Amino acid sequence: MATKIKSVFYCQSCGYESSKWMGQCPGCREWNTFVEEVVKPTAGKTAKKAAGISGAGDNKPVKISEVVITDEERFDTHIGELNRVLGGGIVKGSLTLVGGDPGIGKSTLLLQVARLLSKDKRKVLYISGEESLQQIKLRANRIGDFSDDMNLLCETDLGTIEEIIRRQSPDVVIIDSIQTMFNESVSSAPGSVSQVRESTGVLMRIAKQLGISIFIVGHVTKEGTVAGPRVLEHMVDTVLYFEGDRHASYRILRAVKNRFGSTNEIGVFEMRTEGLAEVANPSEFMLEGKPENASGSIVTCSIEGTRPILIEIQALVSHTNFNFPRRQANGTDYNRVNLLMAVLEKRVGLELSSYDAYINLAGGMKLIEPALDLSMCMAIVSSFRNKPILDDCIAFGEVGLSGEVRSVTMPDVRVSEAARLGFKTCIVPKSAEAKLKSAFKDIKIIGVSSVQEAVNIIR
Ligand code: TYD
Ligand code: MG
Repeated sequence: MATKIKSVFYCQSCGYESSKWMGQCPGCREWNTFVEEVVKPTAGKTAKKAAGISGAGDNKPVKISEVVITDEERFDTHIGELNRVLGGGIVKGSLTLVGGDPGIGKSTLLLQVARLLSKDKRKVLYISGEESLQQIKLRANRIGDFSDDMNLLCETDLGTIEEIIRRQSPDVVIIDSIQTMFNESVSSAPGSVSQVRESTGVLMRIAKQLGISIFIVGHVTKEGTVAGPRVLEHMVDTVLYFEGDRHASYRILRAVKNRFGSTNEIGVFEMRTEGLAEVANPSEFMLEGKPENASGSIVTCSIEGTRPILIEIQALVSHTNFNFPRRQANGTDYNRVNLLMAVLEKRVGLELSSYDAYINLAGGMKLIEPALDLSMCMAIVSSFRNKPILDDCIAFGEVGLSGEVRSVTMPDVRVSEAARLGFKTCIVPKSAEAKLKSAFKDIKIIGVSSVQEAVNIIR
C-alpha cells in the first residue's frame, strides 16, 4: 500500500497547526503566516525517539524512593556570567537553545565558549550553516588563539552532521543556527516549523544518547520569540535569550527556561572589539553618566535572579499638544506606566491627563519587576513638578491601585547594593523599614506606606 502523504499548515510565527489554510492564526493573531508543509508519516517508535524518549519496550515504572540520583556532570565554561545563567556550568548531555536578534553576538559568545572549552582539553565541534570557514576564522582571530581540540564544520544536512558527531564523539557541539539545518525526512524548506522541530528532535536524541552537550542558535522574530515554533522551547533543556540594545555595548544573557538551575539569573556582557567581556558589577556599569540634581531621575534596584542591579529611571512629563496625551515606556511595561499614572492622578491628585509622559530605563535595559513602581511614580512626579529628588537616593516598592506601597522581595539585598555604591538614602516600603534600619546604620532608611508620602519627599 502506498503511504499516504499528509500535508499540514503551520503558522510560521508560533507553530500553530491546522489541517486547512487560514488567513489569520488563531494562536498568535498574525496574518498570512500559514504555510503548507508535507509531513511524512512517522512510525510510532521514531516519533518517540525524536521526542527524546527511548522507544525500547523494556521500560517499566520504578518506585521514586529507588531512583538513584547521580550528580549531573557539569563543566566549567570559564565564563562566570555564563556559568551563573546555566546554573553552574554546562551539563553533560544537555540541549541548550540560545536565541537572540541577528547581530547581537550569539555566534561570538558561542565561539568564545568553544575556545575556552577546547583550551580545557574538551573536544568541541562548531557547526555553522550560515558562515564559511574563512568568516568564522576571521571572527576567531579577533577573539584569540584556539587549540587543536576545536573543530569547524560548514554543513547544513543533519544526516551528515549526525554521522560526523557519532564518528568523532566530541564533548560539546555548537549548531549555528537551527534555522539553516535541513533534515531529509522532512520535505519543507529549512527554517520552516516542521524542519526546525524535526531537527531539534534529532539533536535532542543525539545529546541524550551520546551524552554530548549541544548548543543550538535560534534567530528570533520581531516579536522576540525564537523564529518558527514555540514548541522548540518545550523540547530543549535550557533556553537562553541574548538581548540588549544594539546601539549600546552591553548584552544581557537571560535564562527563560532551565531544567538544571534557577531560571531568573542573568549574565551581563560588554561587546568589545575583541569579543564579549564579562561585566561583574552591572550596577556600576548601568549608572555611568547619571546626571546630578536633575528632575525626573531616580535610581532603583531590581533583583534579577539572585543579583541586585541598580538602574536609573528617567521620566519626562511635558504639556501635550494633542487631544490624547502621548505615553511611552522604554525598557519597561507600557501598561504598567499607564496604570501608575492613573494611580498618581487619582490618589495624589496630579492632573496628568493633559501631559505627555516618557519613561526610560537608562542604558536600554529591560526590566519589568513590580519593585520599580515606586521609583517610576517618583520620577514622574519629580518631572511634573520640575523638582529634583534627593541626591544619592534610591527607591523601590510595589505600588497598588489604592496608592499603597507594598513590600517586595529581598529588601536587604537591595539596600546593601545601594550602600556599596555610596548611596545615602533609601526610600522603602514601610513594612520593611524597621528591619532595614536595624541592619543598616550608615544609610538613611525612609519607610513610606503610600505614594502620597513618597512624593511628599520631593519638595
Ligand atoms: P555575531 O556573533 O555575528 O552575532 P549573531 O551571531 O548573534 O548574529 O556578532 C555580531 C556583531 O558583533 C557584529 O556586528 C560585530 C560585533 N563584534 C564586535 O563588536 N566585536 C567582536 O570581537 C566580534 C567578533 C563581533
Ligand atoms: Mg551568527
